[in-house]
Amino acid sequence: MSKKLFIKTWGCQMNVYDSARMADVLAPLGYRPVDEPEGADMVILNTCHIREKAADKVFSELGRLRILKDEKAVANTGGDGKMILAVAGCVAQAEGEEIVARAPYVDMVFGPQTYHTLPEMVAKASRAAGSVLNTDFPAESKFDFLPEEATSQGVAAFLAVQEGCDKFCTFCVVPYTRGAEFSRPADQILAEARRLVAGGTREISLLGQNVNAWHGDGPNGSSWGLGRLIRALAEIDGLARIRYTTSHPRDMDDELIRAHAEVPQLMPYLHLPVQSGSDRILAAMNRKHSGDDYRRLVDRLRAVNPDLALSSDFIVGFPGESDADFAATLKLVTDVGYAQAYSFKYSPRPGTPAALESKQVPEDVKEARLQALQQLIGAQQVAFNHSFVGRTMPVLFDRKGRRPGQLLGRSPWMQSVHADANERLLNQIVEVRIEDARPNSLAGRIVTGEFASTAGRAVDHAEARA
Ligand code: 5AD
Ligand code: SF4
Repeated sequence: MSKKLFIKTWGCQMNVYDSARMADVLAPLGYRPVDEPEGADMVILNTCHIREKAADKVFSELGRLRILKDEKAVANTGGDGKMILAVAGCVAQAEGEEIVARAPYVDMVFGPQTYHTLPEMVAKASRAAGSVLNTDFPAESKFDFLPEEATSQGVAAFLAVQEGCDKFCTFCVVPYTRGAEFSRPADQILAEARRLVAGGTREISLLGQNVNAWHGDGPNGSSWGLGRLIRALAEIDGLARIRYTTSHPRDMDDELIRAHAEVPQLMPYLHLPVQSGSDRILAAMNRKHSGDDYRRLVDRLRAVNPDLALSSDFIVGFPGESDADFAATLKLVTDVGYAQAYSFKYSPRPGTPAALESKQVPEDVKEARLQALQQLIGAQQVAFNHSFVGRTMPVLFDRKGRRPGQLLGRSPWMQSVHADANERLLNQIVEVRIEDARPNSLAGRIVTGEFASTAGRAVDHAEARA
């Protein structure tokens, strides 16, 4: 009999990918994904520990789910009346024992490296009272044990190629929650990519906490870097677009930079976090590069591909950050010019070196710096989007728009683009002439021959004003 599986996912794309793979592992046991937790036979919270309050959110969600679990036990409709409640992901890894102690009604607590053993954990949890806790870093790679993907990921898919991190930036929990750097072998990645493309995927985003540190076994005992892997992926017929995220500036090697010049399928958009523009703070963060190293890297990338747009992550209010340090960050943003970027207030994470620093920055200072930085980045994003008005670009339409007759897609530079378009164009790459730019999206008109819209302007002015 089919059982209902509800997974709630927080955090990064890697967690989104993991949630899909957990569903794949559970499919042979009869679990089918559903959209709500009410009445589910299993609920998994796939959690994120990157910034504050993550654990609080998990505990408050667990409080709500406990009520549903009790209701299901009483109603005993379908299944065996038991809702298996699980906490997965990075909070489980970091705070597993506390979860088991504070919320003993949770049946399974397991970290990101163990979900290939879900069938055994489920068997144990169904038999025994008390929680199954599994936060090991097993010697084997879960990727060697995961089943083939059960469901098509759609036209734009994610593929995990690398996991974990050996960089130990002093603010970051990832080396502790995800463990050491691990690269999947090239043949495994290429086989997964071919299956995705056979299932209709046209765009693949390669995922890793430190994706450009990927170094995998290639054919005949060779060792490949990410640039070589991207070239091999580009040979797959039907794969039109390749992206990768997230990268560390220190791991942009010559071959990868060359791939940006020579592989047309590699999209001209790179998320390359710098975190700060101050050399002092970069050193305290253990980033092992300076602001000028980063500027030079950006220059090299743009020299090989002038179309390349950049995105970044920034942390404001890192311990000891002065006004001058923050000004250096603003300067770097101005110098580089971003298509978009994420910025965060520094959040002390238990177990990381920076959390122990005495010179923590007051909350109001962090808040003011965040506002200033976001204003600058926002203005750059608006300018970037406006620079496309009047230009024509290929758009991969992957969704229906909000209005009937409208499709929504992605530009090569990750912008959302909408246009009036026939539904036949869904899942296709189509030339679109951009007619309007907003801070978070573009609107345009199909220009490709028979599909060119005659239904008037694609821009919805009522929506633009809203
Ligand atoms: N506080 C604030 N932001 C953080 N990030 C990682 N750790 C912290 C922290 N302790 C941000 C970094 C990273 C992104 C994924 O999250 O900018 O690149
Ligand atoms: Fe969150 Fe980082 Fe874990 Fe992703 S890897 S879930 S961002 S803590």
